[in-house]
Amino acid sequence: MLCLGIETSCDDTSLALVKDGRLLAQESAGQADLHALFGGVVPELASREHARFIGPLCDKLLRDNRYVAADLDLVAVARGPGLLGSLLVGIAFAKSLAVGSGALFIGVNHLHAHLLAAGLEKKLLYPALGLLVSGGHTHLYRVEGPAAFSPLGKTLDDAAGEAFDKAGKMLGLPYPAGRQMDFLAGKGRADPRLFPRPHMRSGTLDFSFSGLKTAMRAQAKPSLRVSWDAATGKAVLPKDPEQYAALADCCASFRLAVVETLAAKMQAALDAPDQADIRCLLLAGGVAANSLLRASIARLAASREKAFLVPAPALCADNGAMVAYLGGLLAEEGFCHPLSMEAVPRGRPIPDDMRRRIGQFPLTAP
Ligand code: KG4
Ligand code: ZN
Repeated sequence: MLCLGIETSCDDTSLALVKDGRLLAQESAGQADLHALFGGVVPELASREHARFIGPLCDKLLRDNRYVAADLDLVAVARGPGLLGSLLVGIAFAKSLAVGSGALFIGVNHLHAHLLAAGLEKKLLYPALGLLVSGGHTHLYRVEGPAAFSPLGKTLDDAAGEAFDKAGKMLGLPYPAGRQMDFLAGKGRADPRLFPRPHMRSGTLDFSFSGLKTAMRAQAKPSLRVSWDAATGKAVLPKDPEQYAALADCCASFRLAVVETLAAKMQAALDAPDQADIRCLLLAGGVAANSLLRASIARLAASREKAFLVPAPALCADNGAMVAYLGGLLAEEGFCHPLSMEAVPRGRPIPDDMRRRIGQFPLTAP
């Protein structure tokens, strides 16, 4: 099955071709530099950029891989959660392409797509315990299959990536700051007492990261702040070794607090008697690129003799490949969507409105 996946839920326009569960090619256009000027994603600008990029990216993807639209068996699109305007661009494009090519159409949950992305590289094992950590979401799920996700916990305020981004901003780092904080953390020494481990005694599997922001405000003294080069618009790290070390230590301490909190909740979920049958730990989303988090969840999995699956860092961020992959898995199980399927913005539940395909039929399910 040749599946085209379209991802436009936030500030990455990404389209990919997946054939029978294998990634053939991907074309993406990021907008981070544009939004960095404003310190975060500006929704109106994001949707305009998607509209500008999506057509040319699709043309290039098909042409470079010697396909035409009529070769597609399935068009899959991220239908939410995300920024409404951005989602609408991807969904309108996907529906038009499905109509024009005669392919089946399916909308996938962006969060579920992140969590199963590792399946592009290794065999997925169910039931799995999945931790999704991105700029907009921090969710813990029990996963029993491509269409069977049960939420166990989620953040009550900021997402883990948002915590990195906001903390980095207080240090003067450009948006999105997670990757650079991770890099600096690798150069420093963590002080476990500098930041709290939030929401640990709640007795639930929910997270809360907004307190870490407040703690960073107290730590981000002017001497720690990174300066800007007005000519390049880029952050300039301190040249003075002591200042550099202080900045790196602060990032290391912050990273440790976030990672220990995430790992402790995952461990608590594993300890629950009703999760005794878990075979595999899944880690996904932009923050899954974090080196300490990867190492820490890998250690947890090994200590419990569970498999551990995490996508390669390039497939941790938003990408069309994960959308195409999950769309393909769902289509193989016989699911699709009618063209009346709607976008679901962040904060609203995704309806269970997939249709069962009956044999071969064209676009709209009965
Ligand atoms: O999944 P993603 O690409 O987009 C969303 O759906 O949000 O995640 C982006 C988030 C940003 O908050 C970014 O700072 C964070 O992932 N991130 C990292 C790292 N790389 C990206 N956070 C910590 N460590 C990293 N290495
Ligand atoms: Zn995402």
